[in-house]
Parts: sequence; structure tokens; C-alpha cells
Amino acid sequence: FENELTLLTHQQNGNEDEFHEAYEAAVESVKADLGAYHGLRIDGSHVDAADRFEVTSPGDFDLEIGEFAAGGESEVDAAVSAASAAFPEWEHRDIEARTEVFRTAADRMRDRKFELAATLSLENGKNRTEAMADVDEAIDFLRFYSRELERSDGYRFDTGQPTPHQHTTNLLRPYGVFAVVAPFNFPLAILAGMTTGAMVTGNTVVAKPASATPLIAHKFADVLADAGLPDGVFNLVTGGGRELGQPLTEHEDVAGVAFTGSREVGLGIERTFREQGKRGPVIAELGGKNPVIVSDEADLDDAVNGVAMGAFSFSGQKCSATSRVYVYEDVFDEFTERLVEATEQLGIGRGEHLDTVVNPVIDDGALDRYRRITERARTDGTVRTGGSVVDDDLPEGRYVEPTVVTDIPHEHDLAREEHFLPFVTVHPVSGLQEGIAKSNDSEYGLCAGIFSEDDEEVERWFDGVESGMCYANRTQSATTGALVQAQPFGGWKFSGTTGKFAGGYWYLQQFMREQSRTRVE
Ligand code: NAD
Ligand code: ALA
Repeated sequence: FENELTLLTHQQNGNEDEFHEAYEAAVESVKADLGAYHGLRIDGSHVDAADRFEVTSPGDFDLEIGEFAAGGESEVDAAVSAASAAFPEWEHRDIEARTEVFRTAADRMRDRKFELAATLSLENGKNRTEAMADVDEAIDFLRFYSRELERSDGYRFDTGQPTPHQHTTNLLRPYGVFAVVAPFNFPLAILAGMTTGAMVTGNTVVAKPASATPLIAHKFADVLADAGLPDGVFNLVTGGGRELGQPLTEHEDVAGVAFTGSREVGLGIERTFREQGKRGPVIAELGGKNPVIVSDEADLDDAVNGVAMGAFSFSGQKCSATSRVYVYEDVFDEFTERLVEATEQLGIGRGEHLDTVVNPVIDDGALDRYRRITERARTDGTVRTGGSVVDDDLPEGRYVEPTVVTDIPHEHDLAREEHFLPFVTVHPVSGLQEGIAKSNDSEYGLCAGIFSEDDEEVERWFDGVESGMCYANRTQSATTGALVQAQPFGGWKFSGTTGKFAGGYWYLQQFMREQSRTRVE
């Protein structure tokens, strides 16, 4: 399986300038089209709702992304009913007829990738590298899940003859209508991954993007429609979590839920689903509090860069972001000083600007959270760099400084809770045993990293760390940036509910239930 890797390909071919030119041209042309009104997408039609909401760019409040229909219960009813009506025909399509749609959609996304990446930068603030990686990952999900369904022959095989006159076929079948609820931070890749997982296996979908990122979801709906997806198979509703997400996931005709977002919301959805007496799947990918160990056997250049990028790229707004670092005492001072220096070099600015690493944070809630945690860090620990909201020369938007904090006890909630901001705590430890114990002392278990040149130490860490994704010596980022198929992505403990990883070989099976069919011949 070949991952898209657009920027890397341009770099390898010596065409990096071309990449930047194409991206910058796309930013201008996407900007020219912003500001329109977008209804809901139900049964192939654009549908109005009684209310509307506006989205502006997190990096520039003067830039209106668009106006969007704010759906509620009655729109959920209409969308679920369209998805229910489309299910019987879609379920019984040949698998190649289904995968053909997603392969075609992947090609369309490839044709539009600079436009989609530019949209992401403007709508959720991602820098150009991260935005393109989001688009590439989305394309990879469409292709990989199509390939997996074909490779496993639609999960259908003959088990043979249990007795001479009987013949049995064993197969996996879709459930029906899936509610798919997505977060703001990978608003294309995660939305595309979850919905494709549901649809390629024969389910139909009502999808709800985060309220901060509806435009990119509309572009995904356009791509699917252009690729020939029948009406009603993918329905898109936009609006608030409580007003729309809740009635959607609680709808009586919804057979399963795929959710990616915070632990609190995901566990609440799962609880209610079970209380309703439903037996279908709730596939929930939740938060992280991702630890990294820096050994005294580490290459400190790698460790400093890996931690800075892991903690601060996309302003730490990744479930996989590095958020606590356990450093062996004898290299603690040197590592921390160098991390502070590296952090102060990182460009803060609009996502679409060339040298931005630390982009604006998504909404006012994130800004308030930043103010609160940095205030507490000042009182209860030492802020080594950062800690302030930036309001000097930047355009009006939500810009904050990447923040490194020390002298916070490992038990402190600043070092235990997910903040989803460019904020990292650094702690001294006596060695590997304490580093692993502290890494594991968390309700989360999504990503973890280690920097050590000692292979035996790394091996002991792999065996001991309680984490779905484990990365050793990853200088480009200590904990973020998994590739579809090559690095299936998911979490242990409260970071996930099913243990099956996105972009991995067992992902699709979660969207299906097993049936054994025996005929007497
Ligand atoms: P969030 O939980 O606030 O929102 C996620 C989605 O749920 C949004 O579409 C939101 O509108 C909707 N929602 C909110 N309340 C709801 C309710 N009561 N019922 C139904 N839907 C509701 O998360 P977010 O801020 O968009 O994203 C950040 C979170 O997502 C972080 O915790 C992050 O770790 C997690 N995340 C996890 C993964 C993963 O793969 N494990 C990947 C990306 C993000
Ligand atoms: N796939 C994303 C990452 O690895 C969440 O950072």
C-alpha cells in the first residue's frame, strides 16, 4: 500500500517550491469562494434548517468561512430516515461496486488536494504541511479500506460441509445506519476514515462534523456525490454537539455509532446507547495524555526536536500530542534548556504562512483553557517558556505561545488531564523503571515515545509501556503522525473503546456482524 505523502514526494523530487506555489495559489482561490451559505445534505439534496451558524477562521476573525444550517431533532429524523431507506439497496451491492465509489472519490480528492488542504488551513488553522497530511491521510483511508474489503472478499467465505448434505457460508454483514460524529482536529481524515469504514462495508451514514469545521465536510460530501455514491448513503448534518450530535447518536433507528472526540462525550454516548438497550457497536476513539521518556542514552538533538514537534505542531491539538516528558535526572537540565531554546524558535502564526508551526487554537474555549492552565502553571510550577496569549503583530485570531513547564508533580492535574493545547510538562525520573511507571500511571493509553540509543532499553520499554502506539527515537515527532496501514492508530484504556485501530487490518470488521448460513442440498 502506497501512502500519498505529497510534501515528501515533492521534496524527494526536488520540487518543494512547486508544492508551496500550488498551495499558495489554492489559498487565494479558496478564499475567493468563502462566505457562502451551506444547507444540510439529506438524501442527495441541500436542505435548510430553521437556524444558522457562522464560522470564522481561527487565525483571522475577519475571514468568514461560511454560514451553515444548524440542524436539530427534526433534521436528524429526516437524515436517519433517508439513510434507512438507502440501506437495503446499498448493502446488497457487489463489493466492487461499493469500492469503486471510494476509489473514484480518492482520485477526486487527489485532483483537489491543494484546494482541500488550503480549506483546512483557513477553516481550522492547520499549517500547510499538517493540512496536506490530513488530506493525504483521508485519501489513504479511502483506498486502504477499499483494498481491505476486496482483499478479504467482502468478509465472506465457504466453511464447507458440516455434514454430507449441508453447506455453510460464513460472512460479515453491515448493521444498518451508523451515526458518525467527528472532531475538529482532523476534520477531513477522521471524518473520511470513519464514514468510509461504515459505508464501504455496506452501512449507510448520517455524519456530523465538529461545529468549527463544517466546510471541509461539505467538500467531502461533494467528492462522494461526484464519485457516484447513491443518494441517502451519506447524509451530512451540521450543528451543535448537544442540539444535534446528541439526538443523532440517540436516535432509535441508529444501529451503531462511530465517534472520535473527547473522553467525556464519547463515554456519555456509549453509556446512553447501552441504556437504550442497543447491542450494536460504539466505536469510540478518545483522548490522550501522551508520555515520552528521554533516557541518558538518548541523542538529545533527536529528543529535543521530537518533543518540540510532538508537543507543539498544530498547537498540541492532537490526541497524539506529546504532553508529559520524563527525563533521566543526569540529562534533565540540559534537555530542558535545549527544549526551551528550540520552542522559542518555533514560528507562531496563521496556518497558511510558510514558517508557521504553532497555529491559532480553535475556539474561545481553547483560549480560556490556555489562560487557566498557564495561570495554574505559574502558581504551582515554573513556566520555562511561553505561557501568554499573543496579541502583538498578528492578525486578530487566537494565538498562544508554546509552553514548557517544570516543577509540577507528576500527580498534578496539569500533568494528568488532556489540555489539547501547546503545553508540555517536563519531569525528572531516576531511570527507565520510574519512567515507565509514571508513563503508565494514567487513564489514557494512546501514544508514547522514548528516546534512547540503547536497544535493550527500548525493548524493555516496548514491553512495559501501556500504550496503543509506541514510537522509539522518532525525531520528526515523538508521538504524532501515524501512517495508514503502516502504523494502525488507536488507544488502550480510556483512549479507545474497542481496541481495533484506524487504518489497520481489523478496523472494518467492527462495522459488521457475523452470520453463518447453512443450506441442506
Ligand atoms: P469533542 O468531544 O468536544 O467533540 C467531538 C464531536 O462530538 C463534535 O462533532 C461535537 O460537536 C460532538 N459532540 C459534542 N457533544 C456531543 C454530545 N453530547 N452528543 C453527541 N455529539 C457531541 O472533541 P473535539 O474538541 O472536537 O476534539 C478533541 C478531542 O478529540 C480530544 O479529546 C482528542 O484527544 C480527541 N481525538 C481523539 C482521536 C483518536 O483517534 N483517539 C483523534 C482525534 C481527536
Ligand atoms: N493520525 C493522527 C496522528 O498520528 C491522529 O497524529
